[in-house]
Amino acid sequence: MTLVIALDGPAASGKGTLARRLAAAFDLAYLDTGGLYRAVAAKLLAEAGDPEDREAAATAAETLAPADLQRPDLRSQAVGSAASVVAAQPRVRRALLEFQRGFAAQPPEGRAGAVLDGRDIGTVVCPDADVKIYVVASPEVRAERRHRELIDRGEPSIYPQVLAEIRERDARDSVRSTAPLKPADDAVLLDTSELDIEAAFRAAQRIVAETLAAAKAE
Ligand code: DC
Repeated sequence: MTLVIALDGPAASGKGTLARRLAAAFDLAYLDTGGLYRAVAAKLLAEAGDPEDREAAATAAETLAPADLQRPDLRSQAVGSAASVVAAQPRVRRALLEFQRGFAAQPPEGRAGAVLDGRDIGTVVCPDADVKIYVVASPEVRAERRHRELIDRGEPSIYPQVLAEIRERDARDSVRSTAPLKPADDAVLLDTSELDIEAAFRAAQRIVAETLAAAKAE
């Protein structure tokens, strides 16, 4: 049995940073599942494909190769937006599901478990995860973080535009009929609006420790 920690939440909620740090702290493997959807989107955009083209998106997902996960443009706004379009398509989700489940069941490098972050880890990919954390922050705080991140990377960024895109992605990720963004019934909510990275990490560590202790006591 492997230890599985699921972190879900909206765009720029800080779940990626938290997931990476939890994986390091507990010596677990880490999978950024958004990166899979981003890789599908980047592949489509590079081939001048339209993210709305279901057939092309499904083929891109079904033929995804490890090299696609290393593309330099994965973190761009354009790829992020296209990722949320392809992520609404059931065939794309189906193609990526087995890989994610396999990663959790048999983490690479013989690790004792895995941390996965995304939108539907606690609800669909790993409904039996040992720990489920749903990370939230207000749209304004998330837009501010994403804006800073883009500026720090030397990319052009206009705050109101970033905020509008965050709201648009939230809406698209939440209303889709397949695996919409929502907390699992048994997820613990972590609001990072008022927390810096250190405080958020300590809170997440506490949630993991308390959840595992409670499960052991049962
Ligand atoms: O977390 P992110 O911003 O890298 O995710 C990019 C897009 O991929 C996001 O808009 C929604 C989608 N996604 C998803 O539908 N399910 C996941 N498990 C992870 C990401």
